[in-house]
Amino acid sequence: MDFWIVFLALILVVVSLVVVEGTHEGEGGGGDGFMKWVGRVGERHELKRKGGVVADMTWLDWKSKQVTSKSYIVVDQNGGGDFRTITEAVDSIQRDMFRPYRITVQINSGFYREKVIIPKNKPMITLLGVGGPIVDWNDTAFVTQNSTLDSATVGISGNNFMARNITFQNSAPGPPVGAVRRQAVALRVTSDIAAFYECAFLGYQDTLYDHRGRHYFKNCFIQGNIDFIFGDGLSIYKVSTKTCHTDLHI
Ligand SMILES: *[C@@H]1O[C@H](CO)[C@@H](O)[C@H](O)[C@H]1NC(C)=O
Ligand SMILES: *[C@@H]1O[C@H](CO)[C@@H](O)[C@H](O)[C@H]1NC(C)=O
Ligand SMILES: *[C@@H]1O[C@H](CO)[C@@H](O)[C@H](O)[C@H]1NC(C)=O
Repeated sequence: MDFWIVFLALILVVVSLVVVEGTHEGEGGGGDGFMKWVGRVGERHELKRKGGVVADMTWLDWKSKQVTSKSYIVVDQNGGGDFRTITEAVDSIQRDMFRPYRITVQINSGFYREKVIIPKNKPMITLLGVGGPIVDWNDTAFVTQNSTLDSATVGISGNNFMARNITFQNSAPGPPVGAVRRQAVALRVTSDIAAFYECAFLGYQDTLYDHRGRHYFKNCFIQGNIDFIFGDGLSIYKVSTKTCHTDLHI
């Protein structure tokens, strides 16, 4: 009989320097453009004194200007918004590879038990959490025809994506000893150019699938025990905190 205890050993790796992983820099000549973009959304404008008040410029950058009545959508589980689920909000966005303006989906606090896919033809979307919403599903590769990719609770393919203050979770239980195909991804990001601020990625195996593209993570929390960040994106992790679950097999 297998007894196994999930033991939360906290190994905090505070990455205070920029860590660049992956090999795709410069593909398509976009390396400089990406760094410029990171500078714009993530670095230089972050804190600026404005009449004595420290204004969080990043926050402002991330919200869409109200271009159309549909460029700012509110999701509220309790009915206080435009939709009750994130999926309905994403479905309401028109497919347009070249939409020139950003659409912000504000997600109010709550436990959203759904699987969310943002397809390639829906670029320029921001998911903005207010009050710490959690998005949760529990697929594993075992139940998705052996597809690690499809096990993701949230899968992002649209370019120029941003997320802030959201917990992405895959709540499939940790795999028993020797189990195969138990990859359970919380977030898969395939977009080119995506940024995550103050987000948490929670799961056991393959928590964060940094699949392809150029990505920026700041003040994020990533938890898992096996390969918890994997993929071949070119990513910058800035002051992110990583935690490991440690399994003890007795
Ligand atoms: C994120 O959400 C938490 C509540 O879960 C809140 O305390 C915090 O201020 C939020 N951060 C931002 C930047 O909105
Ligand atoms: C999934 O992988 C297992 C083990 O490798 C294999 O036996 C099974 O046929 C695969 N299932 C599908 C649907 O591909
Ligand atoms: C996911 O959760 C549901 C219950 O909410 C359960 O029936 C199902 O077996 C779970 N799937 C996995 C892969 O754990």
